[in-house]
Amino acid sequence: MNHFPLEAIEKASIDELRGLQLKRLQATLAHAYANSPVYRAKFDAAGVHPSHCRELADLAKFPFTSKADLRDSYPFGLFAVPRERCVRIHASSGTTGKPTVVGYSRNDIETWAHVVARSIRAAGARPGEMVHVSYGYGLFTGGLGAHYGAERLGLTVVPFGGGQTERQVQLITDFRPDIIMVTPSYMLAIADEIERQGLDPRACSLRLGIFGAEPWTNDMRRAIEQRLGLDAVDIYGLSEVMGPGVASECVETKDGPTIWEDHFYPEVIDPQTGVPVADGEIGELVFTSLTKEALPIIRYRTRDLTRLLPGTARTMRRMEKITGRSDDMMIVRGVNVFPTQIEELICKRAELAPHYQCILTREGPLDCLTVAVEARPGLSHEDGAAQAAAERLAHEIKTYVGTSARIELRPSGGIERSLGKAKRVVDQRKP
Ligand code: DLL
Repeated sequence: MNHFPLEAIEKASIDELRGLQLKRLQATLAHAYANSPVYRAKFDAAGVHPSHCRELADLAKFPFTSKADLRDSYPFGLFAVPRERCVRIHASSGTTGKPTVVGYSRNDIETWAHVVARSIRAAGARPGEMVHVSYGYGLFTGGLGAHYGAERLGLTVVPFGGGQTERQVQLITDFRPDIIMVTPSYMLAIADEIERQGLDPRACSLRLGIFGAEPWTNDMRRAIEQRLGLDAVDIYGLSEVMGPGVASECVETKDGPTIWEDHFYPEVIDPQTGVPVADGEIGELVFTSLTKEALPIIRYRTRDLTRLLPGTARTMRRMEKITGRSDDMMIVRGVNVFPTQIEELICKRAELAPHYQCILTREGPLDCLTVAVEARPGLSHEDGAAQAAAERLAHEIKTYVGTSARIELRPSGGIERSLGKAKRVVDQRKP
């Protein structure tokens, strides 16, 4: 029995969707203004009032919210309901200073479970299947977000969380789950461990992987699909907006995450000027929540770079697979470089494994980029074929990315495995 059928809104007309969005947007702006002193002060300072929003395009008149706004009102200052009405708190650890804290009302938890269930169903899961969750549980939204959605859809959930890779593999082997939810980088570490135990990753029970929480390329998708014999789909989200399930890919198209626009209104802006760009143009993704109670988020600047694309499998728009975060962009001797550009080129070389790190150093006045990458399992990093692949990689980075890079070939296991989000950029330059 299907407990969670496709919802009418997923296939509604654009007009119906836009109508619902406007109604919800107006209610969200009014709620934020009335109940959050921080939003009220921001709107007043910008000379805008919720009543100024008469059509969706009017949203551009309202001020952005950034991570700094959340930090400045640490821990609960941006909340629009009394703390007692929050049934859950999550937080993301920043690299510096205080964490970013978010809160959820009972209805928010409901909505979240709902959009994650919708995401997992869009990925091709069916009630009754078993899902192994390797996203971290705790303050990170990945584990619990995936968990509640999977339960809502009617799956059997194995709430493993991150780490203990050897045991993960044991349980995957013994329980035979159909689905795994994990970061793509940790999926590769699990695949390595499956092989280390003398098993064939392609023979394992997993038929579907729902991967997100970090940028990954379509080449990485193909590498994972081939190695594990499963469908790999992309799930996107961020704690400030909700957690996983803000957008998610439909398995029948695999053409970028569909944004669940009835709950999250997307804009893409020019990161320099803050002006919205047309659909199809690349810029910084900005989200406004349309149904959240505890922490309504108005025009949140994600720092993620992508573009909006028309709907295909659903009415709702898609976002192109994220190429990177503005935070991850390296500027090497004036050339902008994203780790995903390097990843694409690594994935093309069969002698290399897609475990890599970009290390930035300074030699005299000049920035230097070293790409540390592993030889594929079973191939020595000193082997001629691996060395030739490294040379080819350096050449392609120069040709396609436009910067010189030194390649440091490491043996299998030579790049530290992340248990969650991979750290792709190591900046060793002195400030
Ligand atoms: O990473 C939520 C999440 C958990 C999403 C599990 C998907 C799966 P944060 O820790 O707040 O939340 O980090 C959010 O991670 O702004 C992106 O830069 C990046 N990110 C998340 N999903 C994707 C994805 C979770 N599918 C930040 N592709 C976001 C690329 C992603 N980047």
